[in-house]
Amino acid sequence: MEFREIASTRRSVRSFSSQPVEEEKLSRILAVMNSAPSAGNLQAFEVCVVRDAARRKALSEAALSQGFLAAAPVVLVFCANKIRSATRYGERGEELYACQDATIACTYAMLAAADEGLATTWVGAFDDDAVYRIIGSPEGLRPVAMLPLGYAAENPGVTSRRRLLELVRFL
Ligand SMILES: Cc1cc2nc3c(=O)[nH]c(=O)nc-3n(C[C@H](O)[C@H](O)[C@H](O)COP(=O)(O)O)c2cc1C
Repeated sequence: MEFREIASTRRSVRSFSSQPVEEEKLSRILAVMNSAPSAGNLQAFEVCVVRDAARRKALSEAALSQGFLAAAPVVLVFCANKIRSATRYGERGEELYACQDATIACTYAMLAAADEGLATTWVGAFDDDAVYRIIGSPEGLRPVAMLPLGYAAENPGVTSRRRLLELVRFL
């Protein structure tokens, strides 16, 4: 798909079919994710690919019982690697860049998934500590976003956006 079409037609999907995600598609999505820019090219993030059903269920409970996380065949958990960024950029790396690195990687993955005909929803509402325990993250990693991945079992309507003039200032 052309980029503009992906950007304008992608929608958050919160109902997934049980159809598995093909390994080749997942590999291509992860490869696109790995081309995302990052501060100092440090790529101060890590991603967990969660296929295990029990872990997906636990993640959905950690995400305020958002059940669609358990229904999606794959959940990607993006974590900021604060220590990696802090090593070069100190507090700004720890507080800002690591989080930005993880979220732009998630954005690339989300758009790549749409290009593969797969559905996602960016999930930011979760209990950090619970997610931390489920994925067994080492110290210094902070989960910042989860991305359930699968085939859509619904066709969500168009979502509205603020008018450009409300949010863009030309100076
Ligand atoms: C930072 C962030 C956090 C979000 N957290 C959640 C979430 O926890 N649960 C959910 O269902 N959707 C979540 N969303 C998805 C938004 O609700 C969705 O993108 C927005 O309503 C626009 O709809 P669209 O993606 O279909 O265009 C999140 C999106 C972002 C960017």
